[in-house]
Amino acid sequence: MKTILITGCSSGFGRDIARYFLDRDWNVVATMRTPRDDVLPRSERLRVEALDVTDPASIRRAVEAAGPIDVLVNNAGIGVLNALEGMSMEGIREVFDTNTFGTMAMTQAVIPQFRQRRAGVIINVTSSVTLKWLPLLSVYTASKAAVNAFTETLALELEAFNVRVALVLPGRAPETRFGENARARMQNGVPEPYVDLAQRIFAQWERSTEFTHSLDVAQAVWRAANDASCPVRLVAGADALALVE
Ligand SMILES: NC(=O)c1ccc[n+]([C@@H]2O[C@H](COP(=O)([O-])OP(=O)(O)OC[C@H]3O[C@@H](n4cnc5c(N)ncnc54)[C@H](OP(=O)(O)O)[C@@H]3O)[C@@H](O)[C@H]2O)c1
Repeated sequence: MKTILITGCSSGFGRDIARYFLDRDWNVVATMRTPRDDVLPRSERLRVEALDVTDPASIRRAVEAAGPIDVLVNNAGIGVLNALEGMSMEGIREVFDTNTFGTMAMTQAVIPQFRQRRAGVIINVTSSVTLKWLPLLSVYTASKAAVNAFTETLALELEAFNVRVALVLPGRAPETRFGENARARMQNGVPEPYVDLAQRIFAQWERSTEFTHSLDVAQAVWRAANDASCPVRLVAGADALALVE
């Protein structure tokens, strides 16, 4: 029976990826900043571990506690929508610390076991905003585009050790807590000269009829984990697919 470790399982995609793999008889190590036992269904195949991807000691403890794993999913992430001039450097670093450096640190922590066993898959969740630029998302997009470049280069580096690396690029998923979490990070709001632009973007989102569901993301992660012939980049969700078709 295979084991998958997923970051950011307290809500949204992470929680639903964990459910999807549990339903298909995998062992799941569901990690959360604040572990809770009421997020996922009870199962002998489920372990919930504490993990903050920005904290090296937490990473070390979680990877040790998980033991051997077959698949790592770097899903934990934070968003922010603002003009660059409305953001502090501290806020920008926070986004990169979680989305970019957190992904790199987790990947680095599992590579030795994968390389030694000559088996393993690393799946990084980025975003379809890296396929079509949107204003007011420069920092978030940069943090995810860096992960795309990192992942595609790493795929070449790990190929010789039979370690696969994949990217899942979801579209916009208003059903998760992502937007609400991102809004909490915008305490001072969008600077006045950008308010019209922000309103146009929100109006455009409200008019959109196609978006992404957690199930689309779980299915793409499932494919990346199980299909050795799948491409490095998998786009997930109707809106994201529309961008590439
Ligand atoms: N929803 C969208 O529109 C969308 C679109 C494209 C891509 N994505 C990406 O998909 C991923 C999942 O997002 P989601 O929509 O499921 O949002 P979500 O419901 O906000 O879930 C994000 C998860 O990441 C966790 N997290 C945040 N910082 C963390 C840290 N330092 N260490 C460990 N976990 C941390 C959160 O945990 P806490 O509960 O502790 O905060 C939460 O479990 C993210 O990488 C996001 O960038 C989302």
